[in-house]
Amino acid sequence: MPKNKISKNWINKQRRDLYVRMSKKEGYRSRAVFKLKEIDEKYKILKNGISLIDLGAAPGSWSQYAAKKIKNGKILSIDTQHIEKIENTFQIMGDFTDTNYQNKIKNYFKNKVDVILSDMAANTTGNKYVDSISTGELCISAMEFSKEILNSKGIFVSKIFMGASFNDVVKEAKNTFKEIKIYKPQASRKESKENFIICKNIL
Ligand SMILES: C[S@@+](CC[C@H](N)C(=O)[O-])C[C@H]1O[C@@H](n2cnc3c(N)ncnc32)[C@H](O)[C@@H]1O
Repeated sequence: MPKNKISKNWINKQRRDLYVRMSKKEGYRSRAVFKLKEIDEKYKILKNGISLIDLGAAPGSWSQYAAKKIKNGKILSIDTQHIEKIENTFQIMGDFTDTNYQNKIKNYFKNKVDVILSDMAANTTGNKYVDSISTGELCISAMEFSKEILNSKGIFVSKIFMGASFNDVVKEAKNTFKEIKIYKPQASRKESKENFIICKNIL
């Protein structure tokens, strides 16, 4: 299919999409916010006073939602892309897998954190196998970081893709956390292999 036809299809799909319209109406930067909202409503993750890291946060709807829901908390958002300022959050532009940035995160919090969210996704290559592996690797590196910085009773939520990397991600989760759930919110497009892993209590 020619490139401009693909982008026309994408624009039409976005126009029809209920979540895109709702996110615009409610002032969120992305329809992704409704995935976090559903996860939060089901697993009761965001509470007043908690500290939270949002990995792969751009354009920022998850951080916007977290900042609204968490009073008197501490929120850090990081992405390789620029994130427009969000009140009551601290933003870093950089690659989360780089230890320099991981150290910046640790220095910001000084103590352990209560929640780590990751909606990180690698740039798509068009090859589903490669894409699943790359996003799986991001999830595993977020889990490894959790071992260093997450409270023992903390919660870790990450995007994962059903596919080549799924078993490796679940294996790493089982080696790291006591409780693991896989959940696909309604807002996650049906045709997408996207799911979320919700993990609690570090082993
Ligand atoms: C689906 S978007 C996140 C949407 C976001 N949750 C929101 O609500 O606006 C995925 C993001 O992951 C980011 N990302 C991918 N690899 C990353 C990395 N190594 N470090 C930081 N961010 C990364 C991308 O730049 C992209 O902005």
